[in-house]
Amino acid sequence: MPLKPTTILTEDQIRLFHANGFLQLPVLSPPSEVAKLRDVFDRLFAQKAGRKEGFQYDLVGHDEDGKTQSLPQIINPVNYAPELKDTLFRANALAIARQLYGPECAPSFEHAILKPAEYGAPTPWHQDEAHRVDPNFEYRQLSIWMPLQEATEANGCMKFIPGSNLGPVLAHASPGNDTKVHALECIGDFDKESAVIVPLPAGGATVHAGRTIHGAGPNRTNIPRRAYILGFEVPPKLCEQKREFPWLEEKQTANSERRKNWRRKGGFLVEAMRKLRRGFLTNPKRLLFEVKRVVRAIFR
Ligand code: NI
Repeated sequence: MPLKPTTILTEDQIRLFHANGFLQLPVLSPPSEVAKLRDVFDRLFAQKAGRKEGFQYDLVGHDEDGKTQSLPQIINPVNYAPELKDTLFRANALAIARQLYGPECAPSFEHAILKPAEYGAPTPWHQDEAHRVDPNFEYRQLSIWMPLQEATEANGCMKFIPGSNLGPVLAHASPGNDTKVHALECIGDFDKESAVIVPLPAGGATVHAGRTIHGAGPNRTNIPRRAYILGFEVPPKLCEQKREFPWLEEKQTANSERRKNWRRKGGFLVEAMRKLRRGFLTNPKRLLFEVKRVVRAIFR
């Protein structure tokens, strides 16, 4: 039985989200659930879940085997820990996403980020939409970011540029122009001085839109900073105008090599099964997007 959501946004919160591109919420998950999530995250990162498939990697380093990772991330951790399926966090996050973007808004992907104690690296300023591999769709996406311990400026809480959600996707580049690094950094023109820093209690959350410029500082504390992020979107449609994201075309990351190898050895079937389980292939509009995306990737 899916859990029932306990959080409802007010009209004011909805208005603020659309104006500023982000929202701060005090609690989406109770302390008992957050404690369980922490245990799951620590296990998944320790086991290197998803690494061979290219779904666990360092966001900011060269991601070499056996090297210390300064900002490890797991894509879709729920594939490696089914207990993540039924959480109040998930129920609340979906209800919020639908309040903001309407009933067609559905889960798209999720990720777990670990910012290790003392050396966890900063997350460069970026817009999430700049990571979309095919820029010729219209994306209406949002992310709900929940820390599993208190998030402060000292351990790398989120910071946002208000109103940046209303503009276009700005130019991005690989940090230090190092194309072996997975992360992207926004190099377009924006006012860093206007950044709003958002500390949160464990189980609280921020919501941000696909174009909201955001980043996070390093972790200078002696406690690891774990964050669980759930992504949602309205099924994307092809857009009229052509766009190019050259910063993705030049990437040469170790994780995409591992992913290609895994898919080639039959991983694509596992991936299709996972998408089926997550309901991607039973929603007609989402299915249409998946088909178009794959066809366009083959002919590109
Ligand atoms: Ni982001």
